[in-house]
Amino acid sequence: MPLPPGPDLSSWRQLYRWIREPMPFLEECRARYGRSWTLHLPGLAHAVVMTTDDAVIRAVFADAGDALHAGEANVVLRPFVGRRSILLADGPAHRRKRKLLLPPFHGERMHAYGRTILEVADASVDRWAVGRAFPLHPEMREITLRIIVRTVFGIEGDARFEELVGLLGEALDAAAWPPLLMPMFQRRLLGFGPWARYERTVRDADAILYEEIARRRRADVPRADILSMLLSARDEDGHPMPDAELRDELVTLLVAGHETTATALTWAFRHLLERRDLEGRMLAELEPAFARGPDALAKLPLLDAVTRETLRLRPVIPIVARLLKEPMRLGELDLPAGVAIAPAIYVTQRDPELFENPSAFDPDRFLRTSSRPAASEWFPFGGGVRRCVGMAFALYEMKLVLATVVRRARLRLAPGAVAGMERRSITFAPRDGLPVLAVAKAPRGESVADEAPERRATTPEAAE
Ligand code: HEM
Repeated sequence: MPLPPGPDLSSWRQLYRWIREPMPFLEECRARYGRSWTLHLPGLAHAVVMTTDDAVIRAVFADAGDALHAGEANVVLRPFVGRRSILLADGPAHRRKRKLLLPPFHGERMHAYGRTILEVADASVDRWAVGRAFPLHPEMREITLRIIVRTVFGIEGDARFEELVGLLGEALDAAAWPPLLMPMFQRRLLGFGPWARYERTVRDADAILYEEIARRRRADVPRADILSMLLSARDEDGHPMPDAELRDELVTLLVAGHETTATALTWAFRHLLERRDLEGRMLAELEPAFARGPDALAKLPLLDAVTRETLRLRPVIPIVARLLKEPMRLGELDLPAGVAIAPAIYVTQRDPELFENPSAFDPDRFLRTSSRPAASEWFPFGGGVRRCVGMAFALYEMKLVLATVVRRARLRLAPGAVAGMERRSITFAPRDGLPVLAVAKAPRGESVADEAPERRATTPEAAE
C-alpha cells in the first residue's frame, strides 16, 4: 500500500522543520501534496500521514479506540505525565480512565468552578501596574495554574499549595525547551542541564502530591473537588485508583489543563489587541452580564465567538495522532498497520475552502451563521473517544478570564513587541510572552468602559 507522497527531505531535515517551524512546514506540505501527505521522522518507528481530508478525519474520530491507538502515538509525553496517564492509555484501559476522569468536567459540576475562576483572574489584574510593560503569557500561566490547582485540590492560601504552584510552574518552564521532547536530550549531565532541573522539580512536586493523597485518604471527608471525586471513584471490581496512577492523572490534569489554556488566552489577547474595534462591542456585551454571574457570561455570543475564533486560528496543538493497529481504509486512504494518521488541526482550520479569508481573526464569522463548523473542520480539542477531557472547562475558563481582563484592564501591545510565535514543548505561543502595557485599569467589580474609552478601528488581519 503506497503512502501519500511527502517532502523529499532527509528524515533529520523533516524533524528539524517540524520542531523549528511546524506551521509553515504544515502549510507548505498542504500546498504541495494536497489533503494528505507523509512525514518520516527519525526516532519514530512509524511514518506519519498528516491529513486535512474531511472524510479521513471523520473516520479517525469515529473509531472506538481499539484499531487506532492515540496512547501509543503520544508516547513522547511519557516523561512529562507518567506512564499510567490517560494520555498514554489505549483500548479498555483508556475507556476505564475516561469514565473516572470525565464526571468532574461535566455540566453542572463544572459550573461550580466559575466563582473560583473569576476570583483568580481578578487577583492577577489587581497586581498589574498601569503604565508598566509586562509579558502577558506568564500572567496567563499563573492564572490558569492557580485555577487548575484550586479546582483539582479544592484548597487555597495553603503554604504547601503555594509551593506546589511554584514547583509546577518551574517544571513546565524547564520542560518548555523543545529538544527535551527527544529522549536523547533527556540526560542528567551530572545533575546539571534542563533535564536534571526538570527531574528535581518534579521530585519535589511529587512529594507534595503523594503527601496530599495520603492525607486525603486518611481524612476520608467527602469534598467537592476533583481529587476527592477521583479518590472515591471505583473500578468495576470495586477497587480504588492506586496512588501511583492517581499521581499520574493529577499531573496530567495539571499539565494538560494549564499551559494549553494559558497559551490560548494569550493568543486571544494578541488578536484582540490588533482588533481594537472589538473592544467597545465586548465591553457593551459584558457589562450587563457580570451582574448575572459566570454562567451568563459564558453564554455571551461575542465572547463565545472570540474564544472559538482564537482556537480556530491558533489551535495551540497543531495535530493529533493515532497509530494504526491493523490495516484500515480511512476515507479514500488505504493505510497499513503501524503507520500513524494525524488530523492536522492547524492547516484544516485555515483551509480557504472551509473558512472564508482564513488567516484573518474574524470572530463575527461565528455570528454570521447559526450553524457551527463540523467536528472535522473545527477541532482544537481533537475528537472522538479521545476528545479533550477538559474541553468544556477550558472554554468556560477562557471566557471568564477574557471577560474579567477586558472589563477591568485596557491593554495595548508594548512598544517594540514583535509578531511571531515560539514553541514551548508541544504548544506554540506568541513570541517573547506577548509584551503588553496596561493603559487603564478599573477596580474590582467596575469597568474601564466607565472612563472615556479610546477607540480606534483597525482592519482584520493576520498577526504574522
Ligand atoms: C484551550 C485549552 C485546551 C486545548 C486546546 C486542549 C487540547 C487537547 C487536545 C488536542 C487533546 C488531544 C485530543 C485527541 O487526541 O483527539 C487533549 C487531550 C486531553 N486534554 Fe486537553 N486541551 C485544553 C485544555 C484542557 C484542560 C483544561 C484539561 C483538564 C483540566 C485538559 C485535559 C486533557 C486530557 C486529560 C486529555 C487526554 C484525553 C484522552 O486521552 O482521552 N485539557 N486536549
